[in-house]
Amino acid sequence: MNRTKQNIILIGMMGTGKSTVGDLLAMELGFRLIDLDAAVVEKAGMTIPEIFERHGEPHFRELENETLRQVLASGEGVIVATGGGAVLRPDNCELMLQGGLVVALTADAEHIIARVQGDRNRPLLAGNAEERVRALLEERRDAYRFAHCTVDTSGLAAEEVMRAILAHY
Ligand code: S3P
Repeated sequence: MNRTKQNIILIGMMGTGKSTVGDLLAMELGFRLIDLDAAVVEKAGMTIPEIFERHGEPHFRELENETLRQVLASGEGVIVATGGGAVLRPDNCELMLQGGLVVALTADAEHIIARVQGDRNRPLLAGNAEERVRALLEERRDAYRFAHCTVDTSGLAAEEVMRAILAHY
Protein backbone atom coordinates (compact mmCIF):
# COMPACT_ATOMS: atom_id res chain seq x y z
CA MET A 1 0.00 0.00 0.00
CA ASN A 2 1.21 3.52 -0.75
CA ARG A 3 1.87 4.66 2.78
CA THR A 4 1.28 8.33 2.02
CA LYS A 5 -2.31 7.52 1.06
CA GLN A 6 -3.05 5.20 3.96
CA ASN A 7 -6.45 5.88 5.45
CA ILE A 8 -6.69 7.09 9.03
CA ILE A 9 -9.60 5.83 11.11
CA LEU A 10 -10.37 7.71 14.30
CA ILE A 11 -12.07 5.87 17.12
CA GLY A 12 -12.87 6.91 20.69
CA MET A 13 -15.59 7.97 23.07
CA MET A 14 -17.99 10.77 22.26
CA GLY A 15 -16.39 14.13 22.98
CA THR A 16 -12.80 13.12 22.29
CA GLY A 17 -12.68 15.36 19.22
CA LYS A 18 -12.74 12.78 16.40
CA SER A 19 -14.67 14.96 13.92
CA THR A 20 -12.75 18.17 14.65
CA VAL A 21 -9.36 16.47 14.42
CA GLY A 22 -10.52 14.46 11.41
CA ASP A 23 -11.30 17.71 9.64
CA LEU A 24 -7.83 19.10 10.35
CA LEU A 25 -6.14 15.86 9.24
CA ALA A 26 -8.14 15.82 6.02
CA MET A 27 -7.04 19.37 5.22
CA GLU A 28 -3.41 18.70 6.15
CA LEU A 29 -3.12 15.51 4.08
CA GLY A 30 -5.48 16.53 1.27
CA PHE A 31 -7.69 13.55 2.10
CA ARG A 32 -11.47 13.32 2.14
CA LEU A 33 -13.12 13.38 5.57
CA ILE A 34 -15.92 10.93 6.09
CA ASP A 35 -17.86 11.45 9.27
CA LEU A 36 -19.54 8.10 9.85
CA ASP A 37 -22.43 9.57 11.87
CA ALA A 38 -23.13 12.11 9.10
CA ALA A 39 -23.02 9.34 6.48
CA VAL A 40 -25.50 7.26 8.52
CA VAL A 41 -27.81 10.27 8.88
CA GLU A 42 -27.68 10.82 5.12
CA LYS A 43 -28.39 7.16 4.39
CA ALA A 44 -31.31 7.02 6.86
CA GLY A 45 -32.74 10.42 5.96
CA MET A 46 -33.21 11.21 9.65
CA THR A 47 -31.19 12.42 12.61
CA ILE A 48 -29.45 10.08 15.05
CA PRO A 49 -31.97 10.76 17.85
CA GLU A 50 -34.79 9.99 15.36
CA ILE A 51 -33.16 6.70 14.31
CA PHE A 52 -32.79 5.65 17.96
CA GLU A 53 -36.33 6.72 18.83
CA ARG A 54 -38.12 5.20 15.84
CA HIS A 55 -36.05 2.09 15.18
CA GLY A 56 -33.88 1.52 18.25
CA GLU A 57 -30.14 1.29 18.80
CA PRO A 58 -29.72 -2.14 17.08
CA HIS A 59 -31.00 -0.63 13.82
CA PHE A 60 -28.59 2.29 14.19
CA ARG A 61 -25.74 -0.22 14.70
CA GLU A 62 -26.75 -2.08 11.52
CA LEU A 63 -26.72 1.15 9.51
CA GLU A 64 -23.39 2.09 11.09
CA ASN A 65 -21.89 -1.28 10.07
CA GLU A 66 -23.21 -1.07 6.48
CA THR A 67 -21.94 2.49 6.12
CA LEU A 68 -18.50 1.68 7.51
CA ARG A 69 -18.22 -1.21 5.06
CA GLN A 70 -19.08 1.07 2.13
CA VAL A 71 -16.81 3.87 3.25
CA LEU A 72 -13.79 1.61 3.64
CA ALA A 73 -14.46 -0.05 0.31
CA SER A 74 -14.27 3.35 -1.37
CA GLY A 75 -10.46 3.22 -1.43
CA GLU A 76 -7.49 5.03 -0.02
CA GLY A 77 -6.96 8.60 1.02
CA VAL A 78 -9.80 9.00 3.48
CA ILE A 79 -10.01 10.06 7.08
CA VAL A 80 -12.89 8.31 8.81
CA ALA A 81 -14.24 9.83 12.02
CA THR A 82 -16.32 7.04 13.56
CA GLY A 83 -19.05 7.27 16.19
CA GLY A 84 -18.04 6.30 19.73
CA GLY A 85 -19.91 2.99 19.60
CA ALA A 86 -18.67 1.80 16.22
CA VAL A 87 -16.13 -0.35 18.06
CA LEU A 88 -18.84 -2.38 19.80
CA ARG A 89 -19.06 -4.85 16.91
CA PRO A 90 -15.98 -7.03 16.48
CA ASP A 91 -16.56 -7.17 12.71
CA ASN A 92 -16.31 -3.37 12.59
CA CYS A 93 -12.98 -3.52 14.45
CA GLU A 94 -11.69 -6.05 11.90
CA LEU A 95 -12.80 -3.82 9.02
CA MET A 96 -11.06 -0.85 10.56
CA LEU A 97 -7.79 -2.69 11.19
CA GLN A 98 -7.77 -3.82 7.57
CA GLY A 99 -8.82 -0.39 6.33
CA GLY A 100 -6.04 1.85 7.59
CA LEU A 101 -4.21 3.25 10.58
CA VAL A 102 -6.61 3.04 13.51
CA VAL A 103 -6.04 5.85 16.00
CA ALA A 104 -7.85 5.91 19.35
CA LEU A 105 -8.53 9.31 20.88
CA THR A 106 -9.00 9.27 24.63
CA ALA A 107 -9.80 11.94 27.19
CA ASP A 108 -10.56 11.97 30.88
CA ALA A 109 -14.18 12.11 32.06
CA GLU A 110 -14.03 15.82 32.95
CA HIS A 111 -12.90 16.87 29.48
CA ILE A 112 -15.48 14.64 27.80
CA ILE A 113 -18.29 15.93 30.00
CA ALA A 114 -17.32 19.55 29.29
CA ARG A 115 -17.39 18.84 25.54
CA VAL A 116 -20.72 16.98 25.37
CA GLN A 117 -22.70 18.83 28.04
CA GLY A 118 -26.03 20.10 26.66
CA ASP A 119 -25.70 18.27 23.33
CA ARG A 120 -29.11 16.91 22.31
CA ASN A 121 -27.81 14.99 19.33
CA ARG A 122 -26.45 12.09 21.41
CA PRO A 123 -29.30 9.85 22.55
CA LEU A 124 -27.06 7.70 24.76
CA LEU A 125 -26.41 10.74 26.95
CA ALA A 126 -30.09 11.60 27.49
CA GLY A 127 -30.88 12.32 31.15
CA ASN A 128 -27.85 12.90 33.35
CA ALA A 129 -25.07 13.29 30.78
CA GLU A 130 -22.34 13.27 33.39
CA GLU A 131 -23.47 9.94 34.86
CA ARG A 132 -23.96 8.47 31.40
CA VAL A 133 -20.44 9.47 30.29
CA ARG A 134 -18.91 7.90 33.42
CA ALA A 135 -20.94 4.69 32.93
CA LEU A 136 -20.04 4.42 29.24
CA LEU A 137 -16.36 5.05 29.96
CA GLU A 138 -16.46 2.18 32.45
CA GLU A 139 -18.38 -0.13 30.07
CA ARG A 140 -16.07 0.65 27.17
CA ARG A 141 -12.81 0.73 29.09
CA ASP A 142 -11.21 -1.90 26.86
CA ALA A 143 -13.17 -1.31 23.67
CA TYR A 144 -10.72 1.12 22.07
CA ARG A 145 -7.55 -0.81 22.88
CA PHE A 146 -7.34 -2.61 19.55
CA ALA A 147 -6.16 0.61 17.87
CA HIS A 148 -2.70 0.81 16.34
CA CYS A 149 -1.99 3.84 18.53
CA THR A 150 -3.67 6.05 21.13
CA VAL A 151 -3.55 9.80 21.69
CA ASP A 152 -4.79 11.37 24.95
CA THR A 153 -6.51 14.59 23.91
CA SER A 154 -7.19 15.92 27.43
CA GLY A 155 -6.19 19.57 27.52
CA LEU A 156 -4.78 19.53 23.98
CA ALA A 157 -5.85 21.81 21.14
CA ALA A 158 -7.10 20.01 18.00
CA GLU A 159 -3.97 21.10 16.12
CA GLU A 160 -1.76 19.44 18.78
CA VAL A 161 -3.79 16.25 18.56
CA MET A 162 -3.37 16.26 14.79
CA ARG A 163 0.42 16.62 15.15
CA ALA A 164 0.51 13.75 17.67
CA ILE A 165 -1.40 11.56 15.21
CA LEU A 166 0.88 12.46 12.32
CA ALA A 167 3.86 11.40 14.44
CA HIS A 168 2.45 7.84 14.26
CA TYR A 169 1.71 8.00 10.55
C1 S3P B 1 -22.44 6.93 19.97
C2 S3P B 1 -21.66 8.01 19.59
C3 S3P B 1 -22.13 9.01 18.63
C4 S3P B 1 -23.19 8.43 17.69
C5 S3P B 1 -24.29 7.78 18.48
C6 S3P B 1 -23.79 6.67 19.40
C7 S3P B 1 -21.88 5.97 20.95
O1 S3P B 1 -21.03 9.51 17.86
O2 S3P B 1 -22.62 7.49 16.82
O3 S3P B 1 -24.94 8.78 19.22
O4 S3P B 1 -22.41 4.84 21.06
O5 S3P B 1 -20.87 6.31 21.61
P1 S3P B 1 -19.89 10.51 18.45
O6 S3P B 1 -18.85 9.68 19.10
O7 S3P B 1 -19.37 11.17 17.21
O8 S3P B 1 -20.57 11.44 19.36
